[in-house]
Amino acid sequence: MDKKLELLKAKQDQAKLGGGQQRIDKQHAKGKLTAEERIHFLLDAGSFEEIGMLVEHRNTDFGMENQKFLRDGVITGYGTIGGRLVYVFAQDFTVFGGSLSETHAEKICKVMDLAAKTGAPFIGLNDSGGARIQEGVDSLGGYADIFYRNTIFSGVIPQISAIMGPCAGGAVYSPAITDFTVMVEHTSYMFVTGPNVVKTVTNEEVTSEELGGASAHSTKSGVTHITAANDIDCIEKLKQLLSYIPQNNKEKTPKLPYELGEEIREELMSIIPESANQPYDMREVIKGIMDTDSFYEIHKDFAENIVVGFARIAGRSVGIVANQPMFLAGVLDVNSSRKGARFVRFCDCFNIPLLVLVDVPGFLPGTDQEWNGIIVNGAKLLYALSEATVPRITLITRKAYGGAYDVMNSKHIGADMNFAWPTAEIAVMGAKGASEIIFKKEIKEAADPAAKLLEKEAEYSEKFATPYRAAQRGFIDEVISPKFSRRKLIKAFAMLENKVMELPKRKHGNIPL
Ligand code: HXC
Repeated sequence: MDKKLELLKAKQDQAKLGGGQQRIDKQHAKGKLTAEERIHFLLDAGSFEEIGMLVEHRNTDFGMENQKFLRDGVITGYGTIGGRLVYVFAQDFTVFGGSLSETHAEKICKVMDLAAKTGAPFIGLNDSGGARIQEGVDSLGGYADIFYRNTIFSGVIPQISAIMGPCAGGAVYSPAITDFTVMVEHTSYMFVTGPNVVKTVTNEEVTSEELGGASAHSTKSGVTHITAANDIDCIEKLKQLLSYIPQNNKEKTPKLPYELGEEIREELMSIIPESANQPYDMREVIKGIMDTDSFYEIHKDFAENIVVGFARIAGRSVGIVANQPMFLAGVLDVNSSRKGARFVRFCDCFNIPLLVLVDVPGFLPGTDQEWNGIIVNGAKLLYALSEATVPRITLITRKAYGGAYDVMNSKHIGADMNFAWPTAEIAVMGAKGASEIIFKKEIKEAADPAAKLLEKEAEYSEKFATPYRAAQRGFIDEVISPKFSRRKLIKAFAMLENKVMELPKRKHGNIPL
């Protein structure tokens, strides 16, 4: 008995060291922390409980029976972050390149199942060479077991992936199904096929970093939602993100204590420029409305014409979707629609109320947009918002033109409260374009067509480039002074706190994917 215990202790010590100092040094030399260190920094001190430390692989091919390591390349278990339960896995690149064997996958599935049964977030720290090549289909099956759980637990518990090393081949599909992906700059990459295959198939010369580094995925593909400068920064960002999110789909995010003050924000009075064509930064509006320094932006560098992220208002966590006049005049295009829709879906899954800030001139015209499916992609945002049953509030700051007015959380698609600033222009299109069409004949026949156009523009603007026509119809609940926005929104979100809404019974809808 004593001998057995001694053996166990020796094995545990070996596991704690991650298999020796040399391995740790190798990981550090690449600018990465070890799996143990990542877990140590992620979880509250002393809270981690490991599950399956003694698991070893069962493979006997290619001499693998003589190469066994405790944990089989992945640390799994549970602990707390800010006192809240989470489940975690951290792949250990120092063991077979963190590659995924049958047993490695079983360990991950075990904690995923526990996370779903107990209703707690699941966090994956990925650092792996992919399927364990020596295991063949056993390893592929292991991946599919994970993908299946990622899918059936989607919308039940929050799932977050950190990419902290390689993530290649089919392995990328687990992070892709999870709710958020954070990538570490320069030490991580994701791709379905690497540079060598790309060179063979398409003759393109590309590095791993160019093809699938954090920069490519945060700006071009939108695969990653957040980037981090290094492992520590990544872990801090994971913790911050979790603070805005509830434990599961039956709970709400804990509200931070907040003492209500006067809440008047004079700085909002001067944000909208004199000219309707002049840009301004919608983040300044967010800053002026939400609790100080509470905005946590998602997909910051992707489709910058829409801004999405979490923030708090009077201590409550809300999701923000906002047109950004600083980029492409805040127009809706393929990528911004996809970005907005995905974020709305997450918030709706997890009971996070939505605030939609509107300044949108419409959808982006052009062959590029049409051929890349602006119709079906724009419909994603329309569908996602229409279907969302969480409290939904809209504030129109300036333009709300055309179909984009409908899409951006209009009353007609189920928003609960719709506010507008006096600068709002709710119309089919801008005054110039509208006048050129409907007064075409009159302008052409005028002695001074340019002056006539200006006259007609002014006429159109007075009638439609305001929020008042919409307010008369009840499509806008109140036209508010910018400085009172925060106060109004605090009260409206509090009023909507216990909103209950059931959609017609169905298996699931058919979102235009
Ligand atoms: C088994 C692996 C491995 C793997 C790496 N190793 N990947 N062992 N299966 N998939 C081992 C290496 O043999 C090496 O062992 C150690 O891990 C470290 O690897 P290095 O190559 O020395 O590290 P590095 O130079 O940093 O390169 C990392 C790497 C490279 C780029 C990830 O290892 C690599 O290309 N690996 C193969 C990637 C791959 O093709 N995976 C399959 C993808 S397909 P020693 O003993 O020498 O230290 C896939 C399908 C999933 O994943 C399908 C799901 C549906």
